Amino acid sequence: MRIERARGTRDFLPAEMRKRRIMEARMQDIAERWGYEEIRTPTFERSELFTLKSGEEILKEMYEFKDKGGRHLALRPELTAPVIRMYVNELKMVPRPTKVYYFGNCFRYEEPQKARYREFWQFGAEIIGSDRPEAQAEIIALAYFIVKSLGVKAELHVGHVGLIRAILRDVKVEEAEMNKVMRLIDKGEREEVIAFMSEIGAKKELIANLMRLIDSRGKEALEEARRIVTSDSDALKELEKLLEILDYYDVVFTLNAGIARGLDYYTGMVFEIYEAGGKLGAQNQVCGGGSYRLAALFGGIDVPSTGFAFGFDRLAESFALEERYLKRKEVVVVPIREGNDYDRDVIKEAIKITSKLREFFPTHLDVMSRSLSAQLSYAGSIRASFAVLVGKKEVKEGKVTLRDLDTGEQAKMSVEECVKKIKALAV
Ligand code: HAM
Repeated sequence: MRIERARGTRDFLPAEMRKRRIMEARMQDIAERWGYEEIRTPTFERSELFTLKSGEEILKEMYEFKDKGGRHLALRPELTAPVIRMYVNELKMVPRPTKVYYFGNCFRYEEPQKARYREFWQFGAEIIGSDRPEAQAEIIALAYFIVKSLGVKAELHVGHVGLIRAILRDVKVEEAEMNKVMRLIDKGEREEVIAFMSEIGAKKELIANLMRLIDSRGKEALEEARRIVTSDSDALKELEKLLEILDYYDVVFTLNAGIARGLDYYTGMVFEIYEAGGKLGAQNQVCGGGSYRLAALFGGIDVPSTGFAFGFDRLAESFALEERYLKRKEVVVVPIREGNDYDRDVIKEAIKITSKLREFFPTHLDVMSRSLSAQLSYAGSIRASFAVLVGKKEVKEGKVTLRDLDTGEQAKMSVEECVKKIKALAV
């Protein structure tokens, strides 16, 4: 019986894994240089961790189940709530700000489509202990720097949920309704926003103002915000300070007050990065983040935080690995058979030589007792760069025959010389 993969999941073949590992290492390296430390949380958590803020509604979008002890558990749909839970449980005594990064798989019960999966990976970072403009700017700059370092063509949009929330607060919209409006805005469902606002009794002028703010970009968005937002000028002041600091970081961005984010926990700055090279289709958001407060909800003191998460798979689909990494320089050690089996001295020497070469290069050794020609044909089929032939003659002379599989040239030499030669040719 042929068994297919579960819907929305993927297998990663060696070439893809190679590319993903290289990307991961680069992202990790940048996060470390910015002073962040890696953490890891469990793949599943108690369901409340995710429903406390968003309500039971969110269960529809999660892999949620009861274990044999009757506990309600869920595969994590994201990593911010787990990180803050961990902070409250384990890290609250460490100095603030606590700066962490993570890389892990997440699970969402969504309709699979191009660049949208049910199991996907996030690479993210959180500053726990500050949501001030300085922290906001650092987090945005870090995400921006990572995208730039990967050479992915992208567009950064920065907003502040405090602006829209201030307008909604003016007409006494309740928290739950506010979240609903934010979600509609996030999904770009303009007509529904207008219908819902009229339903809850908002005046036409207010709705028009709200829509203008959502639709405007850049300088115009700032002017609209200055004109419309009056009751909560703190949000506006915070945003103005952030915009100033972002300039010092040389971050190129578009102000977009219409960013509402799909998750309910954001309290201040929000931002999104979109792939701009046309590689992803509709699901082109490669990063999302912002300021939020979750610690108090999970039983800690009220600690402000700021963070982001990259959709690692979307980045991987937009990222082109440089040519020089595409092919590994692999070596195949070829013990030469006489008759149907290897000579004991030949295999002993071949294993020794292989161990030496493995200190420097990915090296294969035959495990199928194949003939010289069969081994060379295998070396060709895996596109190895070098073959190191070991026969009775070589063993006697204490040498090997190195064959360059690209040019066909070959010469006898000591193992040490062989290592030197491969190193020189492999660059
Ligand atoms: P999010 O926007 O829900 O934010 O997810 C972050 C990124 O994960 C998205 O921008 C997208 O690239 C990727 N992503 C989401 N769903 C899928 C999917 N089904 N398939 C492939 N990629 C997907 C968060 O999760 C927040 N925790 C980010 C954050 C960290 N905010 C503050 N700190």
